[in-house]
Amino acid sequence: MPDEQETTPADPTHRVSTTGDVEVSTYLEIASEEVRRTAGTAGQATVDSDVPPKRDAIAIIDFGSQYSRLIARRVRELNVYCEIVPPDATRDAVRDMNLAGIILSGGPSSVYEEGAPTAPAWVFDAGVPVLGICYGMQLIAHQLGGHVAQAAEREYGFAVLHRNDQSVLLDGLEDELPVWMSHGDRIDVMPQGFRAIAFSENSPIAAMANDDGIYGIQFHPEVAHTPQGVEMLRNFAYKVCGLNGSWTPNNFVSESIARIREQVGTGKVICALSGGVDSAVTAKLVHEAIGDQLTCIFVNNGLLRREEPERVREVFEQNLGLKLIYVDATERFMTALAGVTDPEQKRKIIGNEFINVFEIEAGAMGEVDFLAQGTLYPDVIESQTSESTAAHKIKTHHNVGGLPERMRMKLVEPLRYLFKDEVRLAGAELGLPPQILNRQPFPGPGLAIRVIGDITWDKLETLRAADWIVMDEIKADGLYDNLWQSFAVLTNTQTVGVMGDQRTYQHVVALRAVTSEDAMTADWARLPYDTLARISSRIVNEVPAINRVVYDITSKPPGTIEWE
Ligand code: XMP
Repeated sequence: MPDEQETTPADPTHRVSTTGDVEVSTYLEIASEEVRRTAGTAGQATVDSDVPPKRDAIAIIDFGSQYSRLIARRVRELNVYCEIVPPDATRDAVRDMNLAGIILSGGPSSVYEEGAPTAPAWVFDAGVPVLGICYGMQLIAHQLGGHVAQAAEREYGFAVLHRNDQSVLLDGLEDELPVWMSHGDRIDVMPQGFRAIAFSENSPIAAMANDDGIYGIQFHPEVAHTPQGVEMLRNFAYKVCGLNGSWTPNNFVSESIARIREQVGTGKVICALSGGVDSAVTAKLVHEAIGDQLTCIFVNNGLLRREEPERVREVFEQNLGLKLIYVDATERFMTALAGVTDPEQKRKIIGNEFINVFEIEAGAMGEVDFLAQGTLYPDVIESQTSESTAAHKIKTHHNVGGLPERMRMKLVEPLRYLFKDEVRLAGAELGLPPQILNRQPFPGPGLAIRVIGDITWDKLETLRAADWIVMDEIKADGLYDNLWQSFAVLTNTQTVGVMGDQRTYQHVVALRAVTSEDAMTADWARLPYDTLARISSRIVNEVPAINRVVYDITSKPPGTIEWE
């Protein structure tokens, strides 16, 4: 499932670009925290790409539901373009969207709470259909003159939805449907002009509609526990809003190419490649649009996995024909990292060194107008909300940053409105090879955060050898695509062992293999014992500096995926 997802995925504590792969924007982020503090992100770039392309769209107003992003993904899976906007978004903020419908998300508030968010007034006079989900439905009732009451019992979990009137929203569905509920308040008086279209045991008005295309549903159609939820969203998007599912990879690739041409004109663009899918698709899209006006930079920081630099060069330079500057900056990174043990310090140094190398290379190219980077939509959503939610910083890469002001390049961010799975579809449409599209995430700081404690070249080589075996066996057993990440960590613990008749005192290596949807949460993978046995035996036999292998069985939370 994963690919080399770039940087790290979004999660409430994260900002994401993400998923693990070294997306280069991550380096830029890491490095520029200080710059940002003094200059803000504005110094780094224009925000041309902040203007969303004009296309038929659904706006999802996010009232703080843990599921808002899921609603967006479900809508996109219907090949309908949508964007998440905050409750205080003005009509102008969505003017460029060609609004075809609005979804009001759920949320943790009660409409009677002080300061509870409300739907902006324009929602109800935009002249487009509205679907309120859970809290969104309660807002419709509350704001349009109905009444919301505290239910005697909280309704949480499965419920059976009974239809009691015809409606386009539930068109083609059974009269009784399993749905997922999670609410305390419920509607007891509908606004004028509404009728109940379904009920459940605890919600006499579990779904309502009026003749102007405004719908409210008390349950969550976006979660897997509502099996027909996707059908309801499809009915809303296609039959109520009149959309036709034209947001396809083919369309967004050609639209992106046209947009990049328009934005860049005859300008010069650079793009830092990481080997991950985000920067790869970005580079390929930009290359399709403007050809050799694009130069890619790939920095080998000495912290990559075995054969990785060679593979990146082969794919991008030889197979895809991109103009690539390859920089072997191994020594520079090794020198800067010598003796450093603190993980955050490592990240900072790596980020700063990356910026330094990048700046030198870009400087050597003369005037460069644009920096192309693989920012994804979850990053954008996260950075929109991170200020207000003030998420606790767990690891530096979760924070948004930018280039130093002195570089003064404008940003080209063709993936800015795409989710990860859409990026992969775009990549496939562009003909990128599966080994790029399906690569597991790899973190920006690379093996530096998988060598616990201080980093030496010998330790990196030991880790590369062990990691190679892990990957080899995982792939041989057909497990690679089902794991979010699988890798080795070189601990700084030494243990006693015996090999032949000799006592050994060598390092412990830890295996980490996790399943995850997006790296926000993860579970340790139940790898087959035989696979574990082969990995362990091969590592101990083939990697001289290791005499013990352990398997990390910690989920996230409370652990994180990486050890540092
Ligand atoms: P954690 O360890 O926070 O990791 O559970 C979640 C995902 O993020 C990746 N990761 C990073 N990616 N720069 C990155 O680009 C980093 O500093 C970094 N730290 C962790 C990690 O591999 C996983 O996919």
